[in-house]
Amino acid sequence: MLKGKKIVLGITGGIAAYKAVEIVSRLRKAGAEVYVIMTKEAAEFVTELTFREISGHSVSSDMWSKVTHWNVEHIALANLADLMLIVPATANIIGKTAAGIADDLLTTTLLATKAPVFFAPAMNSNMYENPIVQHNMKTLQEHGWHMIPPATGHLACGTAGIGRLPEAIDVFTVIEDFFSAVQVLKGKKVLVTAAGTIEPIDPVRFIGNRSSGKMGYAIAREAQRRGAEVVLVSGPSALQEPAGMRVIHVETTAQMREAVIKEFSDCNVVIKAAAVADYRAKEIAENKIKKSETTMSIMLEKNPDILQELGSLKKSGQILVGFAAETQKLLEYAKTKLLKKNLDFIVANDITKPNAGFNAETNLVKILSRDGAVEELPLMSKKELAGIILDHVIKKMEINSKK
Ligand code: CTP
Repeated sequence: MLKGKKIVLGITGGIAAYKAVEIVSRLRKAGAEVYVIMTKEAAEFVTELTFREISGHSVSSDMWSKVTHWNVEHIALANLADLMLIVPATANIIGKTAAGIADDLLTTTLLATKAPVFFAPAMNSNMYENPIVQHNMKTLQEHGWHMIPPATGHLACGTAGIGRLPEAIDVFTVIEDFFSAVQVLKGKKVLVTAAGTIEPIDPVRFIGNRSSGKMGYAIAREAQRRGAEVVLVSGPSALQEPAGMRVIHVETTAQMREAVIKEFSDCNVVIKAAAVADYRAKEIAENKIKKSETTMSIMLEKNPDILQELGSLKKSGQILVGFAAETQKLLEYAKTKLLKKNLDFIVANDITKPNAGFNAETNLVKILSRDGAVEELPLMSKKELAGIILDHVIKKMEINSKK
Protein backbone atom coordinates (compact mmCIF):
# COMPACT_ATOMS: atom_id res chain seq x y z
CA MET A 1 0.00 0.00 0.00
CA LEU A 2 2.90 2.34 0.63
CA LYS A 3 4.60 1.60 -2.65
CA GLY A 4 5.48 4.85 -4.43
CA LYS A 5 3.83 7.03 -1.78
CA LYS A 6 5.73 10.23 -1.05
CA ILE A 7 5.95 10.97 2.62
CA VAL A 8 7.35 14.21 3.95
CA LEU A 9 8.57 13.49 7.43
CA GLY A 10 9.15 16.43 9.77
CA ILE A 11 11.44 15.93 12.73
CA THR A 12 11.29 18.40 15.60
CA GLY A 13 13.48 18.87 18.64
CA GLY A 14 12.50 16.16 21.07
CA ILE A 15 14.56 13.43 22.69
CA ALA A 16 12.49 10.85 20.75
CA ALA A 17 13.86 12.20 17.44
CA TYR A 18 16.15 9.16 17.22
CA LYS A 19 13.07 6.90 16.89
CA ALA A 20 12.32 8.61 13.58
CA VAL A 21 15.28 6.70 12.10
CA GLU A 22 13.44 3.40 12.45
CA ILE A 23 10.21 4.92 11.16
CA VAL A 24 11.95 6.22 8.01
CA SER A 25 13.56 2.83 7.55
CA ARG A 26 10.24 0.97 7.87
CA LEU A 27 8.50 3.34 5.47
CA ARG A 28 11.24 2.90 2.88
CA LYS A 29 11.25 -0.87 3.22
CA ALA A 30 7.50 -0.78 2.54
CA GLY A 31 8.17 1.07 -0.72
CA ALA A 32 7.54 4.69 0.28
CA GLU A 33 9.77 7.59 -0.71
CA VAL A 34 10.63 9.64 2.33
CA TYR A 35 11.71 13.29 2.32
CA VAL A 36 12.94 14.54 5.66
CA ILE A 37 12.64 18.08 6.97
CA MET A 38 14.45 18.76 10.23
CA THR A 39 13.95 21.80 12.41
CA LYS A 40 16.96 23.62 13.84
CA GLU A 41 16.18 22.11 17.25
CA ALA A 42 15.93 18.58 15.82
CA ALA A 43 19.51 18.95 14.61
CA GLU A 44 20.55 19.24 18.27
CA PHE A 45 19.32 15.66 18.85
CA VAL A 46 20.04 13.86 15.58
CA THR A 47 22.16 14.55 12.54
CA GLU A 48 21.12 15.33 8.98
CA LEU A 49 23.63 12.78 7.81
CA THR A 50 21.77 9.90 9.49
CA PHE A 51 18.54 10.86 7.79
CA ARG A 52 20.13 11.50 4.44
CA GLU A 53 21.59 7.99 4.51
CA ILE A 54 18.46 6.29 5.77
CA SER A 55 16.00 8.20 3.53
CA GLY A 56 18.17 8.25 0.41
CA HIS A 57 17.38 11.94 -0.14
CA SER A 58 19.03 15.11 0.99
CA VAL A 59 17.54 16.50 4.18
CA SER A 60 15.87 19.90 4.13
CA SER A 61 16.16 22.14 7.12
CA ASP A 62 16.70 25.70 6.10
CA MET A 63 14.48 28.04 4.11
CA TRP A 64 17.54 29.84 2.81
CA SER A 65 19.88 27.02 1.90
CA LYS A 66 20.80 25.90 -1.62
CA VAL A 67 17.78 24.59 -3.53
CA THR A 68 17.77 20.80 -3.79
CA HIS A 69 14.32 20.37 -5.37
CA TRP A 70 13.02 21.91 -8.57
CA ASN A 71 10.83 24.58 -7.06
CA VAL A 72 10.39 26.96 -4.15
CA GLU A 73 11.29 24.37 -1.57
CA HIS A 74 8.46 24.52 0.97
CA ILE A 75 5.91 24.63 -1.84
CA ALA A 76 7.65 21.81 -3.69
CA LEU A 77 7.64 19.59 -0.61
CA ALA A 78 4.08 20.60 0.30
CA ASN A 79 2.85 19.71 -3.20
CA LEU A 80 4.85 16.54 -3.56
CA ALA A 81 3.63 15.01 -0.28
CA ASP A 82 1.01 12.26 -0.32
CA LEU A 83 1.18 12.53 3.45
CA MET A 84 3.08 14.51 6.06
CA LEU A 85 4.16 12.96 9.32
CA ILE A 86 5.65 14.95 12.18
CA VAL A 87 7.60 12.75 14.52
CA PRO A 88 8.24 13.54 17.29
CA ALA A 89 5.86 16.50 17.42
CA THR A 90 6.83 18.85 20.22
CA ALA A 91 4.37 21.13 22.02
CA ASN A 92 6.13 23.92 20.12
CA ILE A 93 5.38 22.65 16.57
CA ILE A 94 1.80 21.80 17.58
CA GLY A 95 1.33 25.28 19.05
CA LYS A 96 2.90 27.07 16.12
CA THR A 97 0.89 25.17 13.54
CA ALA A 98 -2.38 25.62 15.47
CA ALA A 99 -1.69 29.36 15.54
CA GLY A 100 -0.88 29.47 11.83
CA ILE A 101 2.73 30.48 12.39
CA ALA A 102 5.11 29.76 9.51
CA ASP A 103 8.61 30.77 10.55
CA ASP A 104 10.78 27.93 9.25
CA LEU A 105 10.80 25.33 6.51
CA LEU A 106 8.71 22.76 8.39
CA THR A 107 5.97 25.14 9.52
CA THR A 108 5.72 26.78 6.09
CA THR A 109 5.49 23.37 4.42
CA LEU A 110 2.79 22.32 6.90
CA LEU A 111 0.69 25.35 6.17
CA ALA A 112 1.17 24.99 2.43
CA THR A 113 0.30 21.32 2.07
CA LYS A 114 -3.06 19.88 1.14
CA ALA A 115 -1.92 16.37 2.02
CA PRO A 116 -3.18 14.58 5.13
CA VAL A 117 -1.00 15.47 8.12
CA PHE A 118 -0.23 13.20 11.07
CA PHE A 119 1.40 14.46 14.26
CA ALA A 120 2.98 12.05 16.73
CA PRO A 121 3.19 14.16 19.89
CA ALA A 122 5.93 13.24 22.37
CA MET A 123 6.74 15.27 25.44
CA ASN A 124 6.72 15.32 29.22
CA SER A 125 3.30 14.36 30.72
CA ASN A 126 2.69 17.74 32.31
CA MET A 127 3.32 19.46 29.01
CA TYR A 128 1.10 16.98 27.18
CA GLU A 129 -1.71 17.45 29.67
CA ASN A 130 -1.35 21.22 29.72
CA PRO A 131 -4.74 22.61 28.66
CA ILE A 132 -3.09 24.93 26.14
CA VAL A 133 -1.35 22.01 24.41
CA GLN A 134 -4.57 19.99 24.54
CA HIS A 135 -6.45 22.92 23.05
CA ASN A 136 -3.90 23.27 20.25
CA MET A 137 -4.14 19.57 19.38
CA LYS A 138 -7.92 19.82 19.35
CA THR A 139 -7.73 22.84 17.04
CA LEU A 140 -5.59 20.88 14.59
CA GLN A 141 -7.91 17.88 14.80
CA GLU A 142 -10.94 20.06 14.15
CA HIS A 143 -9.28 21.05 10.90
CA GLY A 144 -8.96 17.40 9.97
CA TRP A 145 -5.33 16.85 10.95
CA HIS A 146 -4.55 13.63 12.73
CA MET A 147 -2.92 12.94 16.10
CA ILE A 148 -1.20 9.65 16.81
CA PRO A 149 -1.78 9.39 20.56
CA PRO A 150 1.37 9.09 22.67
CA ALA A 151 2.05 6.02 24.76
CA THR A 152 2.27 5.87 28.54
CA GLY A 153 5.45 4.76 30.25
CA HIS A 154 8.90 5.83 31.32
CA LEU A 155 9.82 9.30 30.03
CA ALA A 156 13.23 10.72 29.30
CA CYS A 157 12.81 13.31 32.05
CA GLY A 158 12.87 10.50 34.64
CA THR A 159 9.15 10.40 35.40
CA ALA A 160 6.52 8.02 34.16
CA GLY A 161 3.28 8.98 32.46
CA ILE A 162 1.69 9.79 29.15
CA GLY A 163 3.86 11.43 26.51
CA ARG A 164 6.15 8.71 25.12
CA LEU A 165 6.45 8.46 21.38
CA PRO A 166 4.79 5.14 20.45
CA GLU A 167 7.07 2.41 19.14
CA ALA A 168 8.19 2.91 15.53
CA ILE A 169 6.11 -0.07 14.40
CA ASP A 170 2.96 1.50 15.86
CA VAL A 171 3.54 4.82 14.12
CA PHE A 172 4.30 2.95 10.90
CA THR A 173 1.08 0.90 11.25
CA VAL A 174 -1.05 4.04 11.57
CA ILE A 175 0.39 5.33 8.29
CA GLU A 176 0.09 1.95 6.58
CA ASP A 177 -3.53 1.62 7.74
CA PHE A 178 -4.29 5.05 6.37
CA PHE A 179 -3.13 4.13 2.88
CA SER A 180 -4.55 0.61 2.93
CA ALA A 181 -8.11 1.77 3.48
CA VAL A 182 -10.03 1.08 0.34
CA GLN A 183 -12.30 4.05 -0.19
CA VAL A 184 -15.36 1.94 -1.01
CA LEU A 185 -17.67 4.09 1.06
CA LYS A 186 -16.77 7.29 -0.78
CA GLY A 187 -19.90 9.33 -1.43
CA LYS A 188 -21.88 7.43 1.22
CA LYS A 189 -23.19 8.98 4.40
CA VAL A 190 -22.86 6.77 7.47
CA LEU A 191 -24.44 7.72 10.76
CA VAL A 192 -23.12 6.05 13.89
CA THR A 193 -24.46 6.38 17.42
CA ALA A 194 -22.17 5.64 20.32
CA ALA A 195 -21.89 5.60 24.12
CA GLY A 196 -24.91 5.64 26.43
CA THR A 197 -27.63 8.21 26.84
CA ILE A 198 -28.27 9.56 30.32
CA GLU A 199 -31.49 10.75 31.92
CA PRO A 200 -31.47 13.44 34.62
CA ILE A 201 -33.34 12.93 37.89
CA ASP A 202 -32.52 16.25 39.53
CA PRO A 203 -29.86 18.93 38.90
CA VAL A 204 -27.20 16.61 40.36
CA ARG A 205 -28.07 13.01 39.44
CA PHE A 206 -28.84 11.03 36.38
CA ILE A 207 -29.64 7.47 35.35
CA GLY A 208 -26.95 6.12 33.06
CA ASN A 209 -25.33 2.93 31.81
CA ARG A 210 -21.85 1.51 31.46
CA SER A 211 -21.33 2.09 27.73
CA SER A 212 -17.94 3.70 27.03
CA GLY A 213 -18.48 4.50 23.37
CA LYS A 214 -15.45 2.45 22.26
CA MET A 215 -17.40 0.23 19.86
CA GLY A 216 -19.28 3.10 18.21
CA TYR A 217 -16.19 5.29 17.92
CA ALA A 218 -14.27 2.41 16.34
CA ILE A 219 -17.06 1.97 13.77
CA ALA A 220 -17.14 5.69 13.01
CA ARG A 221 -13.36 5.76 12.47
CA GLU A 222 -13.45 2.65 10.29
CA ALA A 223 -16.27 4.05 8.13
CA GLN A 224 -14.28 7.26 7.71
CA ARG A 225 -11.18 5.29 6.78
CA ARG A 226 -13.19 3.63 4.04
CA GLY A 227 -14.11 7.01 2.61
CA ALA A 228 -17.58 7.63 4.08
CA GLU A 229 -18.91 10.96 5.23
CA VAL A 230 -19.44 10.09 8.88
CA VAL A 231 -21.77 11.68 11.41
CA LEU A 232 -21.19 10.45 14.94
CA VAL A 233 -23.96 11.04 17.45
CA SER A 234 -22.46 10.38 20.84
CA GLY A 235 -23.70 10.25 24.39
CA PRO A 236 -21.25 11.36 27.10
CA SER A 237 -17.91 9.59 26.62
CA ALA A 238 -14.38 10.04 27.92
CA LEU A 239 -12.97 9.13 24.51
CA GLN A 240 -11.12 11.55 22.30
CA GLU A 241 -13.34 12.93 19.57
CA PRO A 242 -12.36 11.45 16.18
CA ALA A 243 -10.98 14.00 13.72
CA GLY A 244 -12.42 14.87 10.36
CA MET A 245 -16.03 13.92 11.01
CA ARG A 246 -19.08 15.69 12.34
CA VAL A 247 -19.64 14.79 15.99
CA ILE A 248 -22.96 15.66 17.61
CA HIS A 249 -22.89 15.43 21.39
CA VAL A 250 -26.11 14.51 23.14
CA GLU A 251 -27.10 13.46 26.63
CA THR A 252 -30.66 12.19 26.73
CA THR A 253 -32.51 9.71 24.53
CA ALA A 254 -34.79 12.52 23.32
CA GLN A 255 -31.74 14.52 22.18
CA MET A 256 -30.25 11.48 20.45
CA ARG A 257 -33.56 10.82 18.72
CA GLU A 258 -33.80 14.41 17.50
CA ALA A 259 -30.25 14.38 16.12
CA VAL A 260 -30.63 10.98 14.45
CA ILE A 261 -34.02 11.69 12.88
CA LYS A 262 -32.73 15.00 11.49
CA GLU A 263 -29.81 13.26 9.76
CA PHE A 264 -31.59 10.08 8.68
CA SER A 265 -33.25 10.90 5.35
CA ASP A 266 -30.03 11.15 3.29
CA CYS A 267 -28.09 8.48 5.21
CA ASN A 268 -27.02 5.37 3.32
CA VAL A 269 -26.16 3.50 6.50
CA VAL A 270 -27.07 3.85 10.18
CA ILE A 271 -25.25 1.84 12.81
CA LYS A 272 -26.76 2.18 16.26
CA ALA A 273 -24.10 1.09 18.70
CA ALA A 274 -25.37 3.40 21.45
CA ALA A 275 -26.79 2.01 24.66
CA VAL A 276 -29.97 4.01 24.79
CA ALA A 277 -31.83 4.69 28.04
CA ASP A 278 -35.22 3.04 27.66
CA TYR A 279 -36.82 5.11 30.42
CA ARG A 280 -36.57 8.65 31.73
CA ALA A 281 -37.73 10.25 34.97
CA LYS A 282 -41.38 11.24 34.63
CA GLU A 283 -40.56 14.45 36.45
CA ILE A 284 -37.11 15.98 36.82
CA ALA A 285 -36.85 17.58 40.27
CA GLU A 286 -36.08 21.25 40.04
CA ASN A 287 -33.91 21.11 43.15
CA LYS A 288 -31.58 18.46 44.51
CA ILE A 289 -33.65 15.66 46.04
CA LYS A 290 -32.93 15.49 49.78
CA LYS A 291 -32.67 12.16 51.53
CA SER A 292 -35.59 11.29 53.81
CA GLU A 293 -37.20 7.84 53.95
CA THR A 294 -35.25 4.55 53.91
CA THR A 295 -36.58 3.74 50.49
CA MET A 296 -37.60 6.00 47.69
CA SER A 297 -39.03 5.56 44.24
CA ILE A 298 -38.73 7.50 41.07
CA MET A 299 -41.47 7.19 38.54
CA LEU A 300 -40.06 6.46 35.08
CA GLU A 301 -41.72 6.76 31.72
CA LYS A 302 -40.82 5.08 28.49
CA ASN A 303 -38.48 6.70 25.98
CA PRO A 304 -39.05 6.35 22.25
CA ASP A 305 -37.23 3.46 20.59
CA ILE A 306 -35.09 5.36 18.09
CA LEU A 307 -34.02 2.36 16.09
CA GLN A 308 -37.56 1.05 15.77
CA GLU A 309 -38.63 4.46 14.48
CA LEU A 310 -35.80 4.40 11.91
CA GLY A 311 -36.89 0.91 10.92
CA SER A 312 -40.36 2.23 10.11
CA LEU A 313 -38.98 5.27 8.22
CA LYS A 314 -36.39 3.23 6.30
CA LYS A 315 -36.45 3.65 2.53
CA SER A 316 -35.27 0.94 0.16
CA GLY A 317 -31.49 0.89 -0.09
CA GLN A 318 -30.91 2.31 3.38
CA ILE A 319 -29.06 -0.10 5.64
CA LEU A 320 -29.83 -0.31 9.34
CA VAL A 321 -27.60 -2.08 11.85
CA GLY A 322 -28.50 -2.48 15.51
CA PHE A 323 -26.79 -3.92 18.55
CA ALA A 324 -28.32 -6.19 21.16
CA ALA A 325 -26.65 -6.28 24.53
CA GLU A 326 -27.98 -9.30 26.36
CA THR A 327 -27.30 -11.25 29.53
CA GLN A 328 -29.43 -14.25 28.54
CA LYS A 329 -31.16 -15.89 25.54
CA LEU A 330 -28.77 -13.98 23.23
CA LEU A 331 -29.88 -15.32 19.87
CA GLU A 332 -33.57 -15.39 20.65
CA TYR A 333 -33.70 -11.79 21.90
CA ALA A 334 -31.39 -10.50 19.17
CA LYS A 335 -33.52 -12.11 16.46
CA THR A 336 -36.69 -10.59 17.88
CA LYS A 337 -35.05 -7.13 17.83
CA LEU A 338 -33.76 -7.65 14.27
CA LEU A 339 -37.30 -8.31 13.00
CA LYS A 340 -39.20 -5.89 15.22
CA LYS A 341 -36.91 -2.97 14.34
CA ASN A 342 -36.72 -3.84 10.61
CA LEU A 343 -32.91 -4.13 10.63
CA ASP A 344 -30.53 -5.56 8.05
CA PHE A 345 -28.13 -6.82 10.71
CA ILE A 346 -27.94 -7.05 14.45
CA VAL A 347 -24.72 -7.43 16.39
CA ALA A 348 -25.57 -9.66 19.35
CA ASN A 349 -23.38 -9.15 22.33
CA ASP A 350 -23.39 -11.42 25.39
CA ILE A 351 -22.17 -8.92 27.97
CA THR A 352 -21.71 -11.55 30.66
CA LYS A 353 -18.70 -13.02 28.83
CA PRO A 354 -15.22 -11.88 29.92
CA ASN A 355 -13.62 -9.13 27.77
CA ALA A 356 -16.87 -8.57 25.90
CA GLY A 357 -19.13 -5.58 25.94
CA PHE A 358 -19.07 -2.47 28.06
CA ASN A 359 -15.78 -0.65 28.40
CA ALA A 360 -13.65 -3.59 27.20
CA GLU A 361 -11.11 -3.13 24.39
CA THR A 362 -12.38 -6.35 22.85
CA ASN A 363 -15.76 -7.78 22.00
CA LEU A 364 -17.33 -11.18 21.46
CA VAL A 365 -20.37 -11.14 19.21
CA LYS A 366 -22.55 -12.95 16.75
CA ILE A 367 -23.84 -11.08 13.69
CA LEU A 368 -27.37 -12.02 12.66
CA SER A 369 -28.57 -11.10 9.18
CA ARG A 370 -32.09 -10.64 7.97
CA ASP A 371 -31.77 -13.68 5.71
CA GLY A 372 -31.31 -15.86 8.81
CA ALA A 373 -27.52 -16.22 8.66
CA VAL A 374 -25.66 -16.15 11.96
CA GLU A 375 -21.95 -15.44 11.99
CA GLU A 376 -20.26 -16.42 15.22
CA LEU A 377 -17.07 -14.40 15.68
CA PRO A 378 -14.14 -15.06 18.03
CA LEU A 379 -12.99 -12.56 20.66
CA MET A 380 -11.40 -9.62 18.83
CA SER A 381 -10.53 -5.95 19.18
CA LYS A 382 -13.36 -3.49 18.69
CA LYS A 383 -11.39 -1.98 15.78
CA GLU A 384 -11.25 -5.34 14.04
CA LEU A 385 -14.94 -5.96 14.72
CA ALA A 386 -15.77 -2.52 13.31
CA GLY A 387 -14.09 -3.65 10.07
CA ILE A 388 -16.14 -6.85 9.94
CA ILE A 389 -19.42 -5.02 10.57
CA LEU A 390 -18.58 -2.63 7.71
CA ASP A 391 -17.65 -5.56 5.46
CA HIS A 392 -21.19 -6.88 6.00
CA VAL A 393 -22.66 -3.46 5.24
CA ILE A 394 -20.62 -3.11 2.04
CA LYS A 395 -21.61 -6.60 0.86
CA LYS A 396 -25.26 -5.74 1.48
CA MET A 397 -24.85 -2.48 -0.47
CA GLU A 398 -23.47 -4.44 -3.42
CA ILE A 399 -26.45 -6.83 -3.29
CA ASN A 400 -28.88 -3.89 -3.09
CA SER A 401 -27.26 -2.18 -6.07
CA LYS A 402 -27.73 -5.30 -8.22
CA LYS A 403 -31.46 -5.51 -7.44
N1 CTP B 1 -32.25 1.41 20.80
C1 CTP B 1 -32.78 2.61 20.38
N2 CTP B 1 -33.66 3.27 21.19
C2 CTP B 1 -34.03 2.77 22.38
C3 CTP B 1 -33.49 1.53 22.81
C4 CTP B 1 -32.60 0.88 21.99
O1 CTP B 1 -32.44 3.08 19.30
N3 CTP B 1 -34.89 3.43 23.14
C5 CTP B 1 -31.33 0.68 19.90
C6 CTP B 1 -29.93 0.50 20.43
O2 CTP B 1 -29.07 1.54 20.00
C7 CTP B 1 -29.51 -0.84 19.86
C8 CTP B 1 -30.82 -1.60 19.73
O3 CTP B 1 -31.85 -0.62 19.74
O4 CTP B 1 -28.95 -0.74 18.58
C9 CTP B 1 -31.08 -2.62 20.82
O5 CTP B 1 -30.88 -2.02 22.07
P1 CTP B 1 -31.02 -2.88 23.41
O6 CTP B 1 -30.80 -1.95 24.58
O7 CTP B 1 -30.18 -4.11 23.31
O8 CTP B 1 -32.50 -3.36 23.35
P2 CTP B 1 -33.90 -2.70 23.63
O9 CTP B 1 -34.59 -2.55 22.32
O10 CTP B 1 -33.78 -1.47 24.47
O11 CTP B 1 -34.64 -3.86 24.42
P3 CTP B 1 -34.37 -4.42 25.91
O12 CTP B 1 -33.85 -3.23 26.71
O13 CTP B 1 -35.70 -4.87 26.32
O14 CTP B 1 -33.36 -5.53 25.79
